[in-house]
Amino acid sequence: MPLAIQIQQFGGPEVLQCVEVAVGAPGPGEVRIRHHACGVNFIDIYQRIGLYANPLPMVLGMEGAGVVEAVGEGVAHLRVGDRVAYASQPPGAYAEVRVMPAKCVVRLPQSISFEQGAAMMLKGLTVQYLLRKTQPQGGLQPGDFVLFHAAAGGVGLIACQWAKAMGLQLIGTAGSDEKCELARQHGAAHVINYRRENFVERVKEITGGRGVKVVYDSVGKDTWDGSLDSLQPFGLMVSFGNASGPVPPFSVSTLAAKGSLYVTRPTIFTHIATREATQAMADDLFSMVTSGQVRIPVGHRYPLRDAAQAHRDLESRATTGCSVLLP
Ligand SMILES: NC(=O)c1ccc[n+]([C@@H]2O[C@H](COP(=O)([O-])OP(=O)(O)OC[C@H]3O[C@@H](n4cnc5c(N)ncnc54)[C@H](OP(=O)(O)O)[C@@H]3O)[C@@H](O)[C@H]2O)c1
Repeated sequence: MPLAIQIQQFGGPEVLQCVEVAVGAPGPGEVRIRHHACGVNFIDIYQRIGLYANPLPMVLGMEGAGVVEAVGEGVAHLRVGDRVAYASQPPGAYAEVRVMPAKCVVRLPQSISFEQGAAMMLKGLTVQYLLRKTQPQGGLQPGDFVLFHAAAGGVGLIACQWAKAMGLQLIGTAGSDEKCELARQHGAAHVINYRRENFVERVKEITGGRGVKVVYDSVGKDTWDGSLDSLQPFGLMVSFGNASGPVPPFSVSTLAAKGSLYVTRPTIFTHIATREATQAMADDLFSMVTSGQVRIPVGHRYPLRDAAQAHRDLESRATTGCSVLLP
């Protein structure tokens, strides 16, 4: 039987177990995929610890790439043998083989490898909806400053390149000088080591005292206050993750006091809710990658059964770029 990485309880990386699972035929609207690579994402950690709770036992993983082995009734856009990739609910990507809804699955261009496909779907589609669709009032124009936290991570290094391609001046924060240098090499116009520098002061310096139009903040608890203080009046705070812990409850009048700010808390899963939306976003991502404007930074590869080590590395801030599991 095929192998999968399952949890039976919430907890640390030690709860990840490599087990054999029976995988049946796809039902209506589903496909069965044999994975060649599976993406590792911070959301897998939130699910492992129970911050985002799912029924147990569960196989982790929201991103993968492989080949279609079987197609269920009513699926018109995929055939047996297609090279495919996806980011999606429900979890289950840390597996040699899985059955899943076909609406989230797209064909992978020949020039994009399975490793790249597995690394880029959840993270790259996130950057797509953030930079293209989650914009401040009046939009973003070339030359505008944006602040992007954790700029050397999986989402971060893709964002640095994409922002540069849009002509934006991305100010990237990261947790070490080496990570800052990496973000700069990927297109960040300015970098701040937020473990040793006050990022609010540095943002004010870089922007001539004005602040940025938008902050993309996936760090959460530790950066929330500073992110609001880095915005110009009417600026947009995009809180899209909690790597340091969830943002504590706050008073909405804070937004008035800090300059009539806007706040949104988006998730990719609203954006990829339909097949048409997923395909349109994937087409944009694929064109950024095949044109060479965005390189997918696969920094770490692990055998599938070493998923626990991949989690230890990601949550201890030891990784840069994207990590993949290889079945
Ligand atoms: N809402 C959405 O639609 C959506 C979709 C995809 C991803 N996300 C979020 O985007 C973020 C990035 O995801 P990713 O998978 O690419 O991960 P990642 O950025 O590769 O890893 C997370 C990074 O967060 C930084 N960080 C800051 N404080 C931390 C702490 N206390 N513990 C651990 N890390 C900390 C670390 O970078 P430094 O050492 O440089 O600080 C770490 O490398 C995550 O928060 C994820 O949940 C949200």
